[in-house]
Amino acid sequence: MDTAAAPPTDETLLTRAAASHLIAARLTDVQTVARDTKLYTFRRIDGQPLPPYRPGAHIDLHLPNGLLRQFSLVVPDTDHSSYVVGVKRDENSRGGSRYIIEEMKVGDQIEISAPRNNFALVENAEDVTLIAGGIGITPIWCMVQELAAHKRSWKLHYACRSRVDMAFLETLQQFGPESVHLHFDDEAGGVFDMGAAVTATPPSAHIYCCGPNPMLKAFEAATTARPRNLIHIEYFTPKEEASADQESKLGGFWVELARSGEEYFIPEGKKVLEVLYEAGVDVDYSCELGICGACETRVISGTPIHHDSILSEEEQASNEKVMICCCGCASERLVLDM
Ligand code: FES
Repeated sequence: MDTAAAPPTDETLLTRAAASHLIAARLTDVQTVARDTKLYTFRRIDGQPLPPYRPGAHIDLHLPNGLLRQFSLVVPDTDHSSYVVGVKRDENSRGGSRYIIEEMKVGDQIEISAPRNNFALVENAEDVTLIAGGIGITPIWCMVQELAAHKRSWKLHYACRSRVDMAFLETLQQFGPESVHLHFDDEAGGVFDMGAAVTATPPSAHIYCCGPNPMLKAFEAATTARPRNLIHIEYFTPKEEASADQESKLGGFWVELARSGEEYFIPEGKKVLEVLYEAGVDVDYSCELGICGACETRVISGTPIHHDSILSEEEQASNEKVMICCCGCASERLVLDM
């Protein structure tokens, strides 16, 4: 006897998605674009237009196996009819990319979020340099298409281990070496030279980088002398392990919600988001890793310790906002605008 649970009906999914402010969608196309890398196209079940987005945006996929994962949108928004995301099977997958690559098929229903953007392409920048590594090409490829369509000045550096790992290879080659520099570790006999790429970039250029963490760390090191407003980074995984040093000196801290006046003690080892969620406070969240921006909250007073990979150094130093899924607190009390 087949005991597998039947998938929810369209009506059930639409009702459930609406209740959780999500979008009920169906997987309508799967396309292989490189070794272990596929593009997945989703369309709304109810046929309505999807919320608009700009290059650099990502959406959450609420996977049928219970996991929640974020993926960048790959194609510029033209007619609001579909979202296309790129997924690479991750050797160290915690169950997200492996499930999508191995289990998901055309026709599957899924709940998705509206787009969110922490990596937005600056409108009207004079020069744009884009640097991608591996699956980090997904938001960058969206930017390339947008910039090329509007005949803007841009240059792309794209590095992969090998030619078979490179998505969009043939299309990118058509732009020519003036616009696109492709790097293959196995052919070059080493990794991409980040320092040389940044040095060759005009001082006024906006530079965007997305790729594995070692590449992003090399990018941060190579761009320290550049104005921070010209530097744009998208992390897929947290850039640092949260340190409990400061938090442990206090044994915890109080969070006060300014609008309701409620107070909660955050004991050592717990996150603000976790405590508020368990107390029934309506909190927005997604990655719980400090990489998506969903839980961003305005700080009214107190000194947060930032562990996210989204806010710039200046934004973290200003302490005006905080990601409550991963922050600590250096003061006894943190007052939040919620
Ligand atoms: S939930 Fe993603 S940054 Fe906090």
